[in-house]
Amino acid sequence: MRTKIVAGNWKMHKNAEETEDLLNDLIDKLPNDVEARVIVAPTFVNLSSAVEHLQFTNIGVAAQNMHQSEAGAFTGEISADMLKSIGVNIVILGHSERRAYFHETDALLAEKVNTALKHELEVIFCFGEELKDRQSEQHFNLVENQLKDALFHLEAKDWKNIILAYEPVWAIGTGETASPEQAQEMHKFIRETIASKFGADVADNVSILYGGSVKPENAKEIFSKPDVDGGLIGGAALKAVDFSAIVAGV
Ligand code: PGA
Repeated sequence: MRTKIVAGNWKMHKNAEETEDLLNDLIDKLPNDVEARVIVAPTFVNLSSAVEHLQFTNIGVAAQNMHQSEAGAFTGEISADMLKSIGVNIVILGHSERRAYFHETDALLAEKVNTALKHELEVIFCFGEELKDRQSEQHFNLVENQLKDALFHLEAKDWKNIILAYEPVWAIGTGETASPEQAQEMHKFIRETIASKFGADVADNVSILYGGSVKPENAKEIFSKPDVDGGLIGGAALKAVDFSAIVAGV
């Protein structure tokens, strides 16, 4: 049985005080009767306090990024060991904003994934096509290549620590959402692609999240699709009432 997961990517939002406020609000509002893992990803500087704040809850804490090297002269960067040392066990890698603004490639992401897995971090691996790829009907090819280039070097056993997040770039922060049918079509394709390389067991067990303008109004229908195992939420994760409603829809 696959795990349902709803993760909130807070991006570069919320200072220390606002982080505490939102966490308190989430503890208050998140439904207790949902069988889904809930994860939040505040900024690096607020990860420690989030871990401490959430220690007696079921809410997991993820970092939004991580460097591929163990340590070294990489000003401004954060290592896997640093994350683990403060109790962070999950990291988001390959978000489209990292790819677009910080030039992260699938080759680089393959290195980051290796480092994360070596340190027993769980990886939420993001990928997805841009609008031009969908318009030119290259979206399946593109997604397949992203998976091949970043993850196909792994072994079947590594997949217990991988969560996939399909996020069509044209739907992120735009208010445009993939229709539930478009999401299902792609998630099914992703699962088949994983099955072709790693076997049905790995493919059946990997959680594939959808991300891109998920809101309380559309979450339930998207999450009802058989190959959609939850969501990676940006904007709507910044309000406890909205995020809680999305979690309730899973
Ligand atoms: P959005 O962001 O929900 O604001 O579209 C999703 C994401 O970037 O993961």
